[in-house]
Amino acid sequence: MSVEETIKKLPKIEQHVHIVGSVRPETLLWLNKQGGLKLPYETLDDLKDFYAYTDFEHFLKVYSMVNGLITHEKYYETITYEMLQNQHNCNVKHVECIFSAYDHMHRGLDFADMVKYINRGITRARTEFGITCNIRVDVVRDYGPKIALMLLDQIKSKGDNVVSIDTGGMEDGIRPKTYEKVYQTAREQGLHLVAHQGEAAGVDYVWECVEYLRPERIGHGVAAAQDLKLLTELSHRGIGIETCPMSNLRTGAVQSLGEHPIRCFMEAGVKVSVNTDDPPMFATDMNTEYLMLHRELGFTVEELHNIGLDSIETSFIDETEKERLRKQFDSEYIKLV
Ligand code: HPA
Ligand code: ZN
Repeated sequence: MSVEETIKKLPKIEQHVHIVGSVRPETLLWLNKQGGLKLPYETLDDLKDFYAYTDFEHFLKVYSMVNGLITHEKYYETITYEMLQNQHNCNVKHVECIFSAYDHMHRGLDFADMVKYINRGITRARTEFGITCNIRVDVVRDYGPKIALMLLDQIKSKGDNVVSIDTGGMEDGIRPKTYEKVYQTAREQGLHLVAHQGEAAGVDYVWECVEYLRPERIGHGVAAAQDLKLLTELSHRGIGIETCPMSNLRTGAVQSLGEHPIRCFMEAGVKVSVNTDDPPMFATDMNTEYLMLHRELGFTVEELHNIGLDSIETSFIDETEKERLRKQFDSEYIKLV
């Protein structure tokens, strides 16, 4: 078997994928029609322009347009199921998906209903493919801490299968410290903690995030590579980095994959996972991420397998589930090498 084939067959974990950012292009066109063709795109070819970004802020604008297509809670079942089917096609065994609830609540959609449909999609996918999935709610920095605290309340009473919070959205100009109380409250509620950081702002934001928010994992983390002391701190505190290499390439966070700091993180002792972020929007999937790490940064099959094992350790699942996945990963890996 070629290395490429082996890499496709490796069992994988996805810790950082936005449900809305996973909408298949065909489904996007279909949703657009349901809402009365709001976006001026009718064919898959048209979407190539839609998916080309000048920078991170432009990407967020395009992402927001996709949000506008979710005009009913029920669509969450389809898009969650399809996201997991795509992940299963890359032999992903466990997914921790990101749900930005307020992107839809400010348009009138109901939190509990959306969670209900997401969980229906998850249950269907688990029954059909054996894939498991939990949810983290991205409170989206742009909306401010008051909205975030309201979302924590919603999670408390209606957050079935929600295991974590996150802050995504705009980064530069919104200091992490603003969310100190939100993270403290979430911690007291027993939620896990993640923050998108070091994707579109400097290393000082990552330091502040570590100090005041004390997350268990950081999404992206690219800017952290500028400071070895910070990486050592992440390693000491056991904070993992959810790397998103193709996303970083497409938004310009790195100029080429060869310059991506994933190896730098690992050499400093930080546990990393490899993730797609918004797969069709960045023309990627988990197989592509692994293949590109192999081609552009020389990752071997064994190194990629070890990343999978580290991702199990930093996942928000209980010890029994971790042990089940470790055994599954090792037994599939042994058959491949
Ligand atoms: N960063 C911040 N917000 C996002 C992203 C991202 O990569 N993807 C979707 N929302
Ligand atoms: Zn993200």
